[in-house]
Amino acid sequence: MVDLSVQLAPSHPKGLLLANPVMTASGIFGYGIEYSELIDIQRLGAIVCKGTTLKPREGNPQPRLVETASGILNSVGLENIGVEAVIKEKAPVWAKWQVPVIVNIAGETIDEYKEVAARLEGIAGISAIEVNISCPNVSSGGIEFCTNGISAAEVTKKVKSVSSLPVIVKLSPNVTDISEIASAVREAGADAITLINTMRGMAIDINKCQPCLGNSVGGLSGPAMKPIALYMVYKVADIVDIPIIGCGGISCAEDAIEFLMAGASAVQVGTASLTSPQAALEILTGIERFMRKKGAPNLRAIIGKARS
Ligand SMILES: Cc1cc2nc3c(=O)[nH]c(=O)nc-3n(C[C@H](O)[C@H](O)[C@H](O)COP(=O)(O)O)c2cc1C
Repeated sequence: MVDLSVQLAPSHPKGLLLANPVMTASGIFGYGIEYSELIDIQRLGAIVCKGTTLKPREGNPQPRLVETASGILNSVGLENIGVEAVIKEKAPVWAKWQVPVIVNIAGETIDEYKEVAARLEGIAGISAIEVNISCPNVSSGGIEFCTNGISAAEVTKKVKSVSSLPVIVKLSPNVTDISEIASAVREAGADAITLINTMRGMAIDINKCQPCLGNSVGGLSGPAMKPIALYMVYKVADIVDIPIIGCGGISCAEDAIEFLMAGASAVQVGTASLTSPQAALEILTGIERFMRKKGAPNLRAIIGKARS
């Protein structure tokens, strides 16, 4: 018998115990409900829902998705139904599920993050909050919260101050020193860290002489991201003592195992679910098979094993 369970918020009074380490990444799995008729979502470790803001957002102009050689570029622009609709329409469904649901939140100001987290307080069906700090701060000229330790820590502290749920902070690779940001959010009280969000990029339609995306620039995801994300997990695992959730280009069980061996305690599957809704469950089966083959009784036998 292989024990795949993992605790992602060991120092939090409520904890965040997952039956297995395979989660879905925000923005690619909707609210989970959309996938519930396609796959057995209850077998997943956790579901992270679409980024949620205080008010509904229409998002960026089309086109919003462009294929690249080894991934996709997106500029969805946080289109979402807003926190009140999530509470009224989605959470009651989640409350009946066994699989934990984590609400990914976003904001344009620190107070918006705080307000969204406050409204989620006490709502049944929500197991944790994941804070997407890759959002422009309108109060400081549109500089993203993720780009410096001070603003990243400030968002983390504000969310923690109003939430009794475990708070996971999701970092961006578009920074000079990921370690500095990881340390700052850890100091500010983050219970876990997700590494990483999309990498900024663009594509140009040479016949139209214009950018392919309606928003001109977007975020790169998919297999091209994997070595970068893996490196960031490996690096950050050296300096923080809270669980890390690896994310970026994970397409098969072997990819996921690399992240675990680099120091991640769990993984999120994003773009791979677009090509196959089964991807996350196939990854889970593959991890279990690998552990049996290696005689690994639990995830502790694998997590961080590639570290010297
Ligand atoms: C279409 C799309 C929408 C996304 N929306 C969100 C979002 O709302 N919030 C967030 O934190 N990350 C969002 N992401 C980033 C993913 O959760 C993930 O961090 C990234 O895609 C890297 O993982 P992958 O290579 O497995 O897709 C989105 C990614 C894509 C492709």
